[in-house]
Amino acid sequence: MTPTQQQTSSPSVRKLPTKGPFLIAPSILSADFAKLGEEIAFLERAGADWIHVDVMDGHFVPNLTIGAPVVKAIRPITRLPLDVHLMVEKPERLIADFAKAGADYLTIHVESTREVEETLKKIRELGVKPGISLRPRTSAESVFAFLKYVDLVLVMTVEPGFGGQAFMHEQVTKIAQIRQELLRQNISALIEIDGGVTDQTARTLMDADILVAGSFIFKHDYRSAIKALKDVKCSN
Ligand code: DX5
Ligand code: ZN
Repeated sequence: MTPTQQQTSSPSVRKLPTKGPFLIAPSILSADFAKLGEEIAFLERAGADWIHVDVMDGHFVPNLTIGAPVVKAIRPITRLPLDVHLMVEKPERLIADFAKAGADYLTIHVESTREVEETLKKIRELGVKPGISLRPRTSAESVFAFLKYVDLVLVMTVEPGFGGQAFMHEQVTKIAQIRQELLRQNISALIEIDGGVTDQTARTLMDADILVAGSFIFKHDYRSAIKALKDVKCSN
């Protein structure tokens, strides 16, 4: 078992933020979809820890991207955990399909359904790790009641919908609030940051465990970009 697999398969034993480098989850939203398989293979060889899959329905966010068939297609081509970010209305309609397709993490938005608790429990029953996410304008407190049901908290540092947006610095305090609350409730969920992450903005994200990065990785040499992000936590 690789160190990455050990870390992702047993989050329940860890109570504090990771001391080592960030885990890096490249977002395939910025990949060349005409050669998605190759792109994922490159990312894996370049040191990616997870593959982040942005699912958008054209309702919860204005953009429309990919669905469970794409997750099913990429599942056999990588050993990395598939980190599926559902930016969809009523995700409860889709979770069984994504579980069957091979998602390892299924993250829903707290704003996307009235059945947050039920949906998170259902995700776990389906054998997938549940995550909760929140839009920039949603307060940290709105996810506190759901922390006990999740393995992952995904903090958005851009308005969900598109890659390549500027990092919202004012969201950084939310990360510390969530970290504190996880410690208070003695919950070992991982904190993941999504949106506008670069080797510069990552310097403000020391409370996080995992960084999603789309444009920063895909605009550069994948290996150097992933290493630059990991090194941010090591060098501090
Ligand atoms: C935005 C998505 C992000 C996005 C990140 O709604 O959830 O995962 O692809 O892209 P960058 O890193 O370019 O902001
Ligand atoms: Zn995302």
